[in-house]
Amino acid sequence: MITFGDSKNFPLHHLITLFEQTDWAKGRTLEDVEQMLTHTSLVITAWDKDQLVGFGRVLTDFVYRASIWDVIVDRPFHNRDIGKGIVNRILAHPSLEHVELFWLCTRNYQSFYASLGFSEKEQTGMVWDRRKHLTPIL
Ligand SMILES: CC(C)(COP(=O)(O)OP(=O)(O)OC[C@H]1O[C@@H](n2cnc3c(N)ncnc32)[C@H](O)[C@@H]1OP(=O)(O)O)[C@@H](O)C(=O)NCCC(=O)NCCS
Repeated sequence: MITFGDSKNFPLHHLITLFEQTDWAKGRTLEDVEQMLTHTSLVITAWDKDQLVGFGRVLTDFVYRASIWDVIVDRPFHNRDIGKGIVNRILAHPSLEHVELFWLCTRNYQSFYASLGFSEKEQTGMVWDRRKHLTPIL
């Protein structure tokens, strides 16, 4: 049985293993991930006994805006409603009940998020990638 939680208090090597399955989070270090979690507003985790099989996180002001990042389900556990379970638990979380607008960025999973009520029509995102730029000089 899959269980869900919102505690940040779990061994981080579980998360590194999940991150290794993605192109964007591969190579993240324990030290950086620890700092990332400290400053993350909310995490939702999914567990098969003591194995982390799903993860998603939120950065937010708790009133107006929240962004959802790093939604990942362990490959052997895909298509078992775990990803939907994570996103729905984020949207329904009591600490986020006043948030007006949730935002996320996805390259390949538009239909997955559309089935959860997300729309592509509202706005488009733009990114500034530090790895592709010199630091701006003021
Ligand atoms: C996206 C992801 C989190 C979905 O998790 P999941 O637990 O397999 O998803 P669920 O079982 O809850 O939902 C499956 C739904 O997603 C759809 N889906 C599965 N793969 C898909 C794909 N490549 N593109 C679009 N939709 C897809 C299924 O058709 C299914 O929809 P249905 O219920 O209408 O049939 C998972 O595929 C994943 O971890 N992918 C790799 C990491 C990633 O790219 N994350 C997205 C970051 S934006």
